[in-house]
Amino acid sequence: MLPWVFPRTDEERAESMPSPPTREKDSADSRRSFLKRAINGLAVLAGILLGAAALLSLSPRRRGSGREEIVLLGDEDDAPRRGAREMLWSYEKNGRTVTGRVILVQSPEGLIALSPSCTHLGCFVVWREEEKEFTCPCHGGRYDSTGRNISGPPPAPLGRFDIEKREGKLYVRVPA
Ligand code: FES
Repeated sequence: MLPWVFPRTDEERAESMPSPPTREKDSADSRRSFLKRAINGLAVLAGILLGAAALLSLSPRRRGSGREEIVLLGDEDDAPRRGAREMLWSYEKNGRTVTGRVILVQSPEGLIALSPSCTHLGCFVVWREEEKEFTCPCHGGRYDSTGRNISGPPPAPLGRFDIEKREGKLYVRVPA
């Protein structure tokens, strides 16, 4: 068809129309799909990293050098029959005394040993017998009797220590 002649039939009109920019559209589609896949990949990676961080925060014995010390807490009879009791521990290392404290709690899971340090900014939590939960005096964080953070700013449960019972004595494993 000559350029100065107007199209008369539908076919001529279709021929005279500019063809759609399919290459640019394909390229935009593939960029969009690449971005989508990249964002999905980053979301999965972030999920994995957050999960790993949460697992590490549950267990104090995994922090630091990874070495542990088994320390004596007292007699098995010293464990609380109900509620919670704070207990001190100590051991000698390189000529100096290392000390710390744990809270023994009769929880729905049985006797457990928790770190008294709030996972928000490290204040010591307090057991509330009536509510059967721990509260943090600094910013009002709350934990249930298993140490699970239930409200307020704490980002994670209280740290937990493994308990061992041997010949009537109670021991906990603490980071060395
Ligand atoms: S230090 Fe415990 S809530 Fe902030």
